[in-house]
This record gives sequence, C-alpha cells and structure tokens, in this order.
Amino acid sequence: MNTVNETQKLAAKLAKNVAAGDTILLSGDLGAGKTTFTQGFAKELGIKRPVKSPTFTLVREYQTSEFPLYHLDVYRLGEEGNAEDLGLSEYFGGDAVALVEWSQYIKPDLPDDVLKISFERVASQETQRLITITATGKQSTRLLAAMEE
Ligand SMILES: Nc1ncnc2c1ncn2[C@@H]1O[C@H](COP(=O)(O)OP(=O)(O)O)[C@@H](O)[C@H]1O
Ligand SMILES: [Mg+2]
Repeated sequence: MNTVNETQKLAAKLAKNVAAGDTILLSGDLGAGKTTFTQGFAKELGIKRPVKSPTFTLVREYQTSEFPLYHLDVYRLGEEGNAEDLGLSEYFGGDAVALVEWSQYIKPDLPDDVLKISFERVASQETQRLITITATGKQSTRLLAAMEE
C-alpha cells in the first residue's frame, strides 16, 4: 500500500543521504505528491517552518545545519510559456540542495546531473502513487545508490 506516509518515508530516506550540491527534480501533475514529498524531506532535515509551494516567488529557502535547502515551484512560468534562461542556476549545485517542481519550465537553468523523481496517480486508488527515481550523472547515481542501501 502506498500512502502519504509512505511517500514521506521515502522522502526522509532521501534526505538522510543527500549532500550539498545535490539537485532533485520532482515531476508529476498537480496533486501528484511533489510538495508532499518535499514536506517529508524537509521534516527529516529538522526544518520546523511549514513547507508549502512558493506561489508568488519561485523559490523558498530553508536552513539546515549542513546546507541551505531551496524549494522551487516554477509552475506559473509554464503558463507564461517562458523557456529562457532565468538565472535560476545559482540555486543548483555548490553548497546547496535544491528540490524543483515543474522543472520542465526551466530546462536551460538546470544542471546535467540530477536525481529525477516522478509521481503518477494509480487509476482508481486515491492514496496510491507510482514513484520512479532516475539518476542522470555521477553525483545523482551516488545518491540513488545510497538511499537504496
Ligand atoms: N501516496 C500519496 N503520496 C503523496 N500524496 C498523496 C498520496 N495519496 C494522496 N495524496 C494527496 O495528494 C495530494 C498531493 O498534493 P501535493 O503534494 O500538493 O501535490 P503536487 O505538489 O504534486 O501538486 C495531497 O492532498 C495528498 O494528501
Ligand atoms: Mg506542489
């Protein structure tokens, strides 16, 4: 059985293994579970502030003891059809960790090495999600291997 709880448990497992410089892309339709996953991730890192999708800004920053955590939700850029480099690349890599919702709208800003997590609803099961994780480079492959241990 896959529930909100299980999604957040998976997020916590990822958070335990994440390191500065990691970039995580969350894909899936509205209501698929991207923000729910981010909440489980932030909780595991000891973030007490409530995590909600940034609506009027594209990015929210949270502090952990080890690195800044950036949560980007760029949904509204898609509505504007924006495909230019927006200078968001400063949020990726370096000494920060970033989680991105609707990353397909900021492709030119994204690094090559990312962990991709996709969320899909399962027909007729309101609380079930099919979650698929893919790594696209050295650093994300390390992260995926670590969380699978
Ligand atoms: N297994 C599940 N994993 C994640 N969310 C789930 C699950 N089952 C039901 N939900 C519900 O689906 C909704 C997901 O919303 P949200 O995380 O905001 O989606 P998104 O950020 O992808 O638009 C929440 O209301 C959550 O309670
Ligand atoms: Mg969301």
